[in-house]
Amino acid sequence: MNRFSAILGLLAIAALSALIGARAQVIDWVPFEPAPSEFPREAFRTIVPQSCGGTAARANPPGQDPGVRAGAASAGGFLPGLSANELAIANTAAFWYSQPWTLTGQVGGLGPRYATNGCFECHAYPAPGGSSPIPNTEVALANLNGATNTVPSFITSNGPTRIPYQISTGSILKLYTVKGMTGAEGCTLAQPDFPALLTNNDLSYHIPVPLFGLGLVEATPSANFIAAQTTLPGGVSWTLASLGITSGRFNHSVDGISTLGWKGGVSSIKGFSDLALSVDLGVSSVTYPRKDDEVASCIFNPVPDDFGPRLTRLSPNSASVSADYSSQSDLYSAFIKYLAPPAAVTSYISSVVGAVTTASIANGRARFISDGCVACHTQDQTTGANVAIASPTYKSYTYTPWSDYALHNMGTGLRDGLSFGAAGPQDFRTSALWGTGQRYFFLHDGRTQDLNAVIQAHKSTGSEASTTVDNFNADSTGNQQDILNFLRSL
Ligand code: HEC
Ligand code: HEC
Repeated sequence: MNRFSAILGLLAIAALSALIGARAQVIDWVPFEPAPSEFPREAFRTIVPQSCGGTAARANPPGQDPGVRAGAASAGGFLPGLSANELAIANTAAFWYSQPWTLTGQVGGLGPRYATNGCFECHAYPAPGGSSPIPNTEVALANLNGATNTVPSFITSNGPTRIPYQISTGSILKLYTVKGMTGAEGCTLAQPDFPALLTNNDLSYHIPVPLFGLGLVEATPSANFIAAQTTLPGGVSWTLASLGITSGRFNHSVDGISTLGWKGGVSSIKGFSDLALSVDLGVSSVTYPRKDDEVASCIFNPVPDDFGPRLTRLSPNSASVSADYSSQSDLYSAFIKYLAPPAAVTSYISSVVGAVTTASIANGRARFISDGCVACHTQDQTTGANVAIASPTYKSYTYTPWSDYALHNMGTGLRDGLSFGAAGPQDFRTSALWGTGQRYFFLHDGRTQDLNAVIQAHKSTGSEASTTVDNFNADSTGNQQDILNFLRSL
């Protein structure tokens, strides 16, 4: 049931969270904020939990988050230079990625518990493969085809798509059941008791991580991640140690460093896709052949629901025969593997701060580096010599995710109480920042839409990022503004 412990074989989560008193630390859902343009500049201080570490008074007033960058999506296309066969598979995969799962039929096996009826409902913005859209698709799916679920209070129309975890067990809880759905007659399975779980402070939330560029991340050897973490940019006055940042802490799977998920607990796109089928949609697969809730009166499809190679060719037939005999999970994995990273822009117009110039973005990047943000948000990573993409371009190819993909203690303020492999209840894998310009929600639980709030949330007791927040706050308002402008250019 738990997407990571299934792979890592971790059974001590409940004991661990009880031990460290995780339940008391759950962060309450804060009401959704107004659009950045209406957002009072100082208001984020009332939203970010400023826990006991105390945040030093700011030397300078903060800049303003330029807000979600308008215009066409800068992500969603495939890597340039794919072969004809790769493109045929990628396009077929993109089609099936956007097809909803149903109780039975060609893409059949939804439930009996589900959060949504497809990956595309959560990984949606600014293009298929992205993160939470607005409005939140999870709201309407409570009543999918007549289902009679109640939308839990932590799922709101203007809030992020979220997956709830039960802290005391480490399990993912699916929001809904198929009870009441046309074709699910006889199923009386109840939803989890969310009001009671909320009363007991036993829930934590994670939002979708965008999927763009993951083929390159997957093609990066452990040794390259390790080397990149300690290769500092030229001219900086800090070291990892002087900033209080611990290096060499990566999450691991059987094959080396693992990078996927907020805690970095899974190493492959395919592994994560099979997990997502099971924990988000209730769909069983060759990797996870059982239903999560084996209530006979609620199962309508022969298991495993998703398997390949198929016995008959998928219809509609595509330009790729191999794609037509693949499982949906194989197709999703191919779709994700071939997605290009989000493209950064060199200037843009913001409805909040007006024209953002190339010079401002360049200065923001320089201050992001000199303030030490880059100590975790490592600019470049490099793929290995053997890459599962035909074009030689992607061998030893340098890309720019702005992450070391390592684990860091982010303090009591960001603690989610969950443990996955090497990641403890306050540890998170550094977020990749590519695509920040076109994201609505930030941080693991999607608690804010405001980049100032994101940065202040990096500082609390125990956080390895606190010194960099002090550096940011001590920077001039103009430099802070340039850093925010730079982040929204990504
Ligand atoms: C209900 C919303 C939801 C649905 C539906 C969903 N995801 Fe996700 N996805 C998430 C969340 C939340 C995370 C972060 C999970 C975590 O770390 O706890 C995530 C993370 C991922 C990641 C890791 C990305 C990274 O870089 O860390 C992959 C890969 C992924 N999902 C693939 C899929 C696929 C494939 C599907 C469909 C089979 C899918 N997801 C359906 C919410 C969703
Ligand atoms: C000690 C490592 C570390 C340092 C230093 C650091 N970050 Fe982060 N950053 C993280 C981690 C880990 C997360 C994810 C935390 C979470 O979601 O709870 C994150 C999240 C973010 C996000 C949101 C990304 C998302 O996917 O939601 C932004 C934006 C960001 N950081 C910017 C900055 C800036 C700007 C600085 C410098 C002032 C900085 N970071 C310094 C580790 C770091």
